[in-house]
Amino acid sequence: MSNTTAGSAATGPIVIFGGRSEIGTEIAARLAPGRIVVLAARRAEHLDGPVTQVLAAGAAAVHTVEFDADALETHAAVLDSITTTHGPIDVAVLAFGILGDQSRAETDPAHAVAVVHTDFVAQVGLLTVLAQRMRAHCSGRIVVFSSVAGWRVRRANYVYGSAKAGLDGFASGLADALHGSGVSLLVVRPGFVIGRMTEGMSPAPLSSTPPQVAGATVRALQRGRGEVWVPAVLRPVFFGMRLLPRAVWRRLPR
Ligand SMILES: NC(=O)c1ccc[n+]([C@@H]2O[C@H](COP(=O)([O-])OP(=O)(O)OC[C@H]3O[C@@H](n4cnc5c(N)ncnc54)[C@H](OP(=O)(O)O)[C@@H]3O)[C@@H](O)[C@H]2O)c1
Repeated sequence: MSNTTAGSAATGPIVIFGGRSEIGTEIAARLAPGRIVVLAARRAEHLDGPVTQVLAAGAAAVHTVEFDADALETHAAVLDSITTTHGPIDVAVLAFGILGDQSRAETDPAHAVAVVHTDFVAQVGLLTVLAQRMRAHCSGRIVVFSSVAGWRVRRANYVYGSAKAGLDGFASGLADALHGSGVSLLVVRPGFVIGRMTEGMSPAPLSSTPPQVAGATVRALQRGRGEVWVPAVLRPVFFGMRLLPRAVWRRLPR
């Protein structure tokens, strides 16, 4: 599927992996003016809402491509098809993820593994192929979504939190490995985001919204930063919380 307005892209495409993500779509809209945007998602034929939103934000063109992050063996072919058609990727945003059901995951190993597979294993697979391709072109920017849930894992959401902890460590190490290669990697650590993923849950203190997370992410990307906490105050708060004794920590809510 392809939708085009006037204008042509100045550089390589912006690709949102998990192209239906609320945060990912908001990021695409902010980066869109004059650019080619690719939304890579499951059920790619049903992306009318995000496509319309990103076109309205001024994209030169918005394309969609079928992408299931869990199908690790397909990642390289998806990247090949994007780069063959649109050129080397400028910005890759890994916006896919699932929260899962913590209480179910505590007794259903298949569910626990499914959460870790999407939120850690699939991200590691895609990041490895992406980094290899971008390195070969000495250019490209990668955005990874960690979470405060992974900074110090809490009892209340330890399955999702442990996947994010693994991802945060992998992404931080990969960022260092890419240093000096011309490729950069931004790790985003949002707190509780009021949106589709957390629907029905009571917002935690210092919550944000998808537009706020996207705004902070794009500002950090444009400034060439390596990490950003959203909101920024969560950084000192969570550094302090790391020092809490275990007996207190294990009682904290999600
Ligand atoms: N929302 C929060 O509170 C919060 C806080 C911290 C970090 N984050 C992280 O920020 C990122 C974006 O989250 P969001 O708030 O934008 O959530 P969202 O709107 O629920 O978007 C997540 C997207 O991931 C996609 N996805 C899940 N499994 C997939 C798979 N196997 N293959 C391809 N796509 C898949 C979903 O696609 P479908 O539409 O096909 O289901 C969905 O569109 C996630 O990594 C999330 O963990 C979110």
